[in-house]
Amino acid sequence: MNKRKILVTSALPYANGSIHLGHLVEYIQTDMWVRFQKMRGHSVFYVCADDTHGTPIMLRAEKEGISPETLIARVHDEHLSDFTGFYIRFDNYYSTHSPETRQFSEDIYTRLKNAGLIAVRGIEQLYDPVKQMFLPDRFVKGECPKCGAKDQYGDSCEACGAAYAPTELKNPYSAVSGAEPVKKSSEHYFFSLSDARCSDFLRAWTREGDHLQPEAANKMHEWLGEAGENKLSDWDISRDAPYFGFEIPDARGKYFYVWLDAPIGYMGSFKNLCERENISFDAFWQPGLSSDTELYHFIGKDILYFHALFWPAMLKNAGYRTPTKIFAHGFLTVNGEKMSKSRGTFITAESYLKQGLNPEWLRYYYAAKLNSTLEDIDLNLEDFVARVNSDLVGKFINIASRCAGFITKRFNGQLVDGEQYQHLRAIVDKRFAMWRPDQIDHAFEQREFAAAVRQIMKFADEANEAIHELAPWEIAKDPQRENELQSACTLGIQLFYVLSCYLKPILPETARRIEHFLNCESLPWPALTDDQPVSNLLLPAGHAINPYQHLMTRIEAKQIDALVAANVQSLTPSAVQADSPARHGQKQQHGIAPIADMISIDDFSKIDLRIARIAKAEHVAGAEKLLKLTLDIGNELRTVFAGIKSAYDPEQLEGRLTVMVANLAPRQMKFGLSEGMVLAAGDGNPGELFLLSPDTGAQPGMRVK
Ligand code: 2FM
Ligand code: ZN
Repeated sequence: MNKRKILVTSALPYANGSIHLGHLVEYIQTDMWVRFQKMRGHSVFYVCADDTHGTPIMLRAEKEGISPETLIARVHDEHLSDFTGFYIRFDNYYSTHSPETRQFSEDIYTRLKNAGLIAVRGIEQLYDPVKQMFLPDRFVKGECPKCGAKDQYGDSCEACGAAYAPTELKNPYSAVSGAEPVKKSSEHYFFSLSDARCSDFLRAWTREGDHLQPEAANKMHEWLGEAGENKLSDWDISRDAPYFGFEIPDARGKYFYVWLDAPIGYMGSFKNLCERENISFDAFWQPGLSSDTELYHFIGKDILYFHALFWPAMLKNAGYRTPTKIFAHGFLTVNGEKMSKSRGTFITAESYLKQGLNPEWLRYYYAAKLNSTLEDIDLNLEDFVARVNSDLVGKFINIASRCAGFITKRFNGQLVDGEQYQHLRAIVDKRFAMWRPDQIDHAFEQREFAAAVRQIMKFADEANEAIHELAPWEIAKDPQRENELQSACTLGIQLFYVLSCYLKPILPETARRIEHFLNCESLPWPALTDDQPVSNLLLPAGHAINPYQHLMTRIEAKQIDALVAANVQSLTPSAVQADSPARHGQKQQHGIAPIADMISIDDFSKIDLRIARIAKAEHVAGAEKLLKLTLDIGNELRTVFAGIKSAYDPEQLEGRLTVMVANLAPRQMKFGLSEGMVLAAGDGNPGELFLLSPDTGAQPGMRVK
């Protein structure tokens, strides 16, 4: 066999949101495709990472009172645990905030610059004078210039659909601070996409070589126009500080725009894997060395522009290989509509798993719906229940559960051998004479998962019919027909085995349990050459199996109702709180302490309250209640021993902002000198102590009045 060398990626999810069922359409299909290729014996690497840079992530961290690094580390763990829960098996799940991605970003940028493809130009943008930052389009709001609708984003109006520049909004305000933005210019760095070296290359690349699906190629041609039309504008790849990202070499205070380093994160993640596992990185990325390796990007259709235009143009002009193919897919709808938080159909991966639903049900359903086009796919919840129950449990698992008991109890786990086995092979070859395993191969290879599932279920129907005709449960009533019973049940188990092999890329966990049940090390991909009979796919004569153990349950409609109910989010504060684990303590009833004696404003102003960043939080050896905090109050660091150990782990605290009393007389404690006090509410019991946080925008050292 010609062993292919394949590198596969899925789009990198942003490090500030949860994985939901919409994301999973992509990761599940990529994982199934990778597993299929691995089963066929090819050498495949599947890499991904969190997409960690940009303004929304910077602001989100600030809002939570933690550093962006702390936020992305936490979200990385959450994402990986969701993916693992759905049996998405990456060879590496990394982060774009990595030395490797930084190095490739700088390298690609420098090569483009040396090639004369980076231009610097001043541009005017909206600037938040309070927050002192340029505002991305989505962070400016105001009235739509076309229809006057209020509170519209800076790029488009949700009321009338108009698209416009943020500077066109009427009465604009910053979504970060509420301030009225001002126009300000600054220098930006552009990748010269309009240069003929990019546009001519892209025109050829998108037409030739089958890199794109037909619909995607058409879209690209629309965007590119004909030679001479020059429809491509240069791409702004820089952002001004403050920004969470990589600083551009030789350009202080300028950062790479998140979309510059995001796809480079594919390289970064792979490089990290290569170093760990001694794989040749260059064999996949150097144009001279990569002619026998393949590179595939699975993406959603909304990010085609970045992957089919910017990315290949960057790679080509920086002297790297370009992708073999880009596989774009459509969006997920639920019950025929956009996922909706208020209807409870914006379902997170975590909630699906927490409700105890089997992740393989979803993998199967998606497989049954997916094809190689950009069409959206619909998760119809009623159909989901019906389909999984009838196909997976009714047609597939039932074969094993009906036949295995007899083999275990009456034949000590032994399947037939000798003449009986030969006879069984003949039956299989006759019954499945028209069976074409290569059609399933082809369907998987082409990402026509629904077609593959249809073929596999046709096989299951035929298998069920064969068993039904033999009716082992009838034969079992007659002690004279032992051989017949063993043959009939062996046929069932053998056909179940073939089906399990086909379903393994879709149902990896069930396949693992079936491997134990059928006593085989690893279910192989069922491949036949043209001259081989179907019976070559069967387990060998006289094979012994283990007792059957339950493999999969049916879905109950009420489980789906509970899942939807668990995901309904209304905008009432109580629902928001109930959703947030950090706030669960608030549900308990507290006695309200009486208000203290009156003080004058002068009394109050004696207390110097300052915003403090918790630079460091540590346990204190021997202290039951205390944590040692190092607080940054702008121009100095303070050590404070705070009685908050019952409610917080030190790791949770590092990077977050709080409020401290900065002029409290220092107090010598058993463990050291405490130079102030942090403010918290609650009585100090676990879950009943709440450290104060300032609103977004506060900076260490600011006085609280
Ligand atoms: O659209 C998104 O969710 C991006 N985070 C995808 C990035 S894919 C790749 F380019 F990194
Ligand atoms: Zn409008």
